[in-house]
Amino acid sequence: STNNPRITVIGTGYLGATHAVCMALLGFDVLGVDVDSSKIDLLQSGRVPFFEPGLPEKLAEALDSGRLRFSTDLDEAAAFGDVHFICVGTPQARDSAAADLRYVDAAFAGLAERITRKALLVGKSTVPIGTAARLTSLVQTISPLGPELELAWNPEFLREGFAVADTLHPDRLVFGVSSEWAREQLARVFQPIVDEGTPVIVADLATAELVKVAANSFLATKISYINAMAEVCEATGADVSLLATALSLDDRIGGRFLKPGLGFGGGCLPKDIRAFRHRAEELGIGQAVSFLGEVDSINIRRRVRTVDLVRELAGGDLSGVRVAALGAAFKPNSDDVRDAPALDVARMLYLEGASVSVYDPQANANAHRVFPDLNYADSLSESVRDADVVVLLTEWQEFRDADPDELGALVRYRRIVDGRHALDADDYRLKGWEYRALGRPAQSGTVALRLDRRDEVAAT
Ligand code: UDX
Repeated sequence: STNNPRITVIGTGYLGATHAVCMALLGFDVLGVDVDSSKIDLLQSGRVPFFEPGLPEKLAEALDSGRLRFSTDLDEAAAFGDVHFICVGTPQARDSAAADLRYVDAAFAGLAERITRKALLVGKSTVPIGTAARLTSLVQTISPLGPELELAWNPEFLREGFAVADTLHPDRLVFGVSSEWAREQLARVFQPIVDEGTPVIVADLATAELVKVAANSFLATKISYINAMAEVCEATGADVSLLATALSLDDRIGGRFLKPGLGFGGGCLPKDIRAFRHRAEELGIGQAVSFLGEVDSINIRRRVRTVDLVRELAGGDLSGVRVAALGAAFKPNSDDVRDAPALDVARMLYLEGASVSVYDPQANANAHRVFPDLNYADSLSESVRDADVVVLLTEWQEFRDADPDELGALVRYRRIVDGRHALDADDYRLKGWEYRALGRPAQSGTVALRLDRRDEVAAT
């Protein structure tokens, strides 16, 4: 492996930490770099600074192999690497829908000042289209190497909760390059993954940047599509749950990302569709993706509607009502509360005067940090004790597995809003719960249909 390119990974968040670990497991010598020394200390000592199933074991394996190290020193990174992956964050700007590119710019410029031999800088972060072209001129102006210092874009599609598997076995690889040499470097680095049969799309820089935002916009649109249908169901007495199942059996549509409910959140989808719209407007083609504004609005309206359902169950007024809020993370198997629909609903309930008791199996600590005013319970049973209304906001397995009778014994009133269509409505209703879900009728039509059918069978 002495001929292998040496790899640095700049930025050790979800994306970078996972990428660094996986590259070491694939046999490369890797240096992970971050400005945050507490993060670097944790990683170097074998601890992952966030919740990601499977990653701690893989980190230990990579450290044991002797092929992975962490550092805060960019000089060391510049001297070490042949291929540098830039994995820093591109959060939404504080004062607009645009992406905040200061960390990306700083990472590229910092490396460009320091690198003294031919190397490839590879952007992985999600950025507005045109960023890679702008960074190419920035980097080549700063660098003592001039045009010898090349830049490529390699967007990453990993999902939180599946970060390792998605990195080692992606659906596809996208190499955004502007030279054959750059393509060859990426081909060497990803060879073990390509050898597994993973398709590679070799593209120009702009297309590579666009693949990422286009994919996330499509996924967000699919979720908001079914949630828009939920609004239609609410106005007509139709059942979005049955509708989604029926639609999903058309394999041109498919069932993935067609689950109705409280909608999407997290560190990617919401900010990516906003930044995409913003960039399209700058390019003078705002109309082309103005529908993403609707996708965003539909998504936000689900949160408001969930609060409406809780208020309805509580009898029309939330002040003083004890609400058990199950979940805070933006999705299960994650401790991430960035733009979490769950926490947003809890916040709105609180602002209407409810006494909210939040329980999330992993995200309580992060939620407490961003929203200290809520009550946080240490367990499911503590959260639901004496509740007037229970609202399920993140579909953790623990909540799916809960027994309606055991929960019912703890609450004051058996009233539940299922914000994620995660529970068995018939079972809850049979056990005396008033069960409500977004886009579904207040009384179950399916129970009635099933009973009718049984009657028919009995009659014949
Ligand atoms: C997403 C993309 O999937 C990934 O490819 C990209 O690289 C980063 O953004 P992630 O943010 O980890 O990954 O979350 P994802 O699993 O995609 O879920 C996004 C949100 O959509 C969650 O809040 C989830 O609850 C919601 N969702 C998902 C639905 O509401 N309905 C669905 O059917 C699917």
